[in-house]
Amino acid sequence: MKWVLPTAAGEGKAVVFKSKLKWVALFGLVLSAFSLFTHFLLARYTDGFAFSEYKSSITIFAWRPIFENADLSTTTALYRRLWGPVRRLESIHPYANPRGNYVAPPSQTNGFIFVRIRGGFHEIRNSICDVVVVARLLNATLVIPEIQSTTSSKGISTQFKSFAYLYNDDQFMAALADDVKIVKTLPKNLKGARRKKEIPSFKVPNSASPYFYLHHVLPVLNRHSVVELVVPDGGCLQALLPSHLEEYQRLRCRVAFHALRFREEVQELATKILYRIRASGRPFIAYDPGMTRDALAYHGCAELFQDVHTELIQHKRAWMIKRGIVKGNLSVNSAEQRLNGLCPLMPEEIGILLRTYGYSWDTIIYLSGGEVFGGQKKLIPLHAMFENVVDRTSLSTPWELNKMYGREANLVDKSPNTFIPPVKEEKRKPDAWKTSGPRPRPLPPPPPRVKYPYNIEGWWGWVAESDNEPESTVMELRTNAHKLLWEAIDYTICVEADIFVPGFDRDGRGNPNFASLVMGHRLYQFAASKTYRLDRKEISRRLEEIHDHYYQANHTWMTSLRRQMRRNLVDGLAEQFTKSKPLSFLSFPLPECSCSRNDSIEVSSHASSPSVHSKLHDVLGAMHHCPSWMDGGDHVVSRSRDKESEEEDLDEDDSGALLFRQSGESSNEGVAEMSNKEETQIEDQEELEGGER
Ligand SMILES: *[C@@H]1O[C@H](CO)[C@@H](O)[C@H](O)[C@H]1NC(C)=O
Ligand SMILES: *[C@@H]1O[C@H](CO)[C@@H](O)[C@H](O)[C@H]1NC(C)=O
Ligand SMILES: *[C@@H]1O[C@H](CO)[C@@H](O)[C@H](O)[C@H]1NC(C)=O
Ligand SMILES: *[C@@H]1O[C@H](CO)[C@@H](O)[C@H](O)[C@H]1NC(C)=O
Repeated sequence: MKWVLPTAAGEGKAVVFKSKLKWVALFGLVLSAFSLFTHFLLARYTDGFAFSEYKSSITIFAWRPIFENADLSTTTALYRRLWGPVRRLESIHPYANPRGNYVAPPSQTNGFIFVRIRGGFHEIRNSICDVVVVARLLNATLVIPEIQSTTSSKGISTQFKSFAYLYNDDQFMAALADDVKIVKTLPKNLKGARRKKEIPSFKVPNSASPYFYLHHVLPVLNRHSVVELVVPDGGCLQALLPSHLEEYQRLRCRVAFHALRFREEVQELATKILYRIRASGRPFIAYDPGMTRDALAYHGCAELFQDVHTELIQHKRAWMIKRGIVKGNLSVNSAEQRLNGLCPLMPEEIGILLRTYGYSWDTIIYLSGGEVFGGQKKLIPLHAMFENVVDRTSLSTPWELNKMYGREANLVDKSPNTFIPPVKEEKRKPDAWKTSGPRPRPLPPPPPRVKYPYNIEGWWGWVAESDNEPESTVMELRTNAHKLLWEAIDYTICVEADIFVPGFDRDGRGNPNFASLVMGHRLYQFAASKTYRLDRKEISRRLEEIHDHYYQANHTWMTSLRRQMRRNLVDGLAEQFTKSKPLSFLSFPLPECSCSRNDSIEVSSHASSPSVHSKLHDVLGAMHHCPSWMDGGDHVVSRSRDKESEEEDLDEDDSGALLFRQSGESSNEGVAEMSNKEETQIEDQEELEGGER
């Protein structure tokens, strides 16, 4: 601003000087702009990620990162134990290309398959993969599926049509060009027929077999050259296929992991958020609580909440029983369910596990999930244990989210129950106050109190009054559509995270959920990335042991829990192979979609039981050998790692113990722990020798 002044002053003086001064001013202006520019450049690049610098650069978002020590050494054994890859799975690589004799789709197809998909994020994803496989199986042309939760009648932007609201349809078609013929819409004559409901339609169950399609759907398709499939259950083809159809499983992988990309705007925001987390230069944990109302109701976990949520969950359960989704009693013993590993681990419990394993209080935890039923209250303990708990909203601005939704009709004005505080009002009144009347004046009126719809109606008021859930408003339907986009962002971040911890792996129908898909994707993309496949039954039992003193666990307990978590990193695979894969192929796409660099992957003889051991053999031993073009200079790396591993776990240090001692353990116990330490190291060494190599 200063630079403008000389010109103003110069005007009063002789005219001759005027133009000279102008030049001086301009020069000054350029100079100052330049200095400002260099200043920014320097600030950016000199200090790298110096603590304070970096902190100030992020405070525009709700997250103010606080770290104990500015730099984190990545070479220590402790670091590898917490963040490093699971060594035993390192030789597994993604390999979903067709093998053997695989032909391009015929140019003359048997007809069109038109699909309508219902359900949430993970159900949509499963279903899309299935319908592509069905289209290939029947030599049909697939019309880009219609996702019913994202049609414009739900109040979303008219800019996007159904599938394209979530996924990139051009990329989808291009990526699958060698597999299936895909078109964007039905030809005109068939479109009309569809509108008049004249095309044959099948409502297909989750576990439909290839036989069903070849013997029931195909004849109809041949006769009419078009069929409609309605997919309500999160899938339309059984997860496990006979071995001669193995090629179709790889097709599923190509769809899920290569062809399905999110719409550009979604991908962009996800990348931005990821970048903002990574800007700290630290690895991070992604945690998906999996606490949705449906899942809690289905599994009878209502009593884990001691408030209105219990009632809401029970209401849902009653509704599910009426529809035959749940077969069982309305009231179940939630404590028992939990001990059997049938309920989600609560955020508090996950917090304790992570702290016990050694993650320090300043670890970044990305909280995923469109819904944490039970609300913020259930997250308080986690926030208390970890300083840097972030989520989608704390790492993006409302503006960025709105940009992703696109231009939407303004529903808000029409409805009397709005979330929008009356901003205009607030502004006008103080203005009027400033300009009117002589002083002294009374204080300006206080801003009007924000009225939230649930204050007025009570959003759960209906629980006591009606057996039915109230009809969703357009606003709620739109929020459900937005939820898909939120989950798309969370999905991207969870797949990329250094560590993934699922709180639960089942949805409201007992099927694998969002977190299971993430685990499957991680297993495919980078099998060795750390994913805690927790044995909830065992973990719940252990947590029950210290129920009276959650935050003062003794050393013995912590060591055994740590060992358990560590074992679960690999043993959990066997569990998922038997429990999740038969329900959703994408939750465990091995061994079909991967290959191993070694002839056989050594399976630990240290696994918790012989049966686990043999199951692991089934999974990992059956993997194909990677083709030679995938071999790269990897050997050097793995050898040096082997050497490192000998030191590993001498690090099984007491960081966990130290952390908990902060919260008021007596010093006596501290002494006891010290004497235990040596013993533990020996145990850990044993574990290492059998376990990790
Ligand atoms: C699909 O086409 C392939 C070869 O083009 C053929 O072998 C197969 O029998 C056809 N399947 C059906 C269901 O038409
Ligand atoms: C339902 O409750 C009854 C009585 O409490 C019990 O006998 C029965 O086994 C329960 N059914 C199920 C499926 O849990
Ligand atoms: C440690 O805690 C567990 C669970 O509370 C208890 O069973 C065990 O006896 C304790 N061990 C020691 C050495 O205090
Ligand atoms: C992989 O093969 C190399 C050499 O063939 C061997 O030294 C190494 O132990 C194998 N690794 C695994 C995990 O089996």
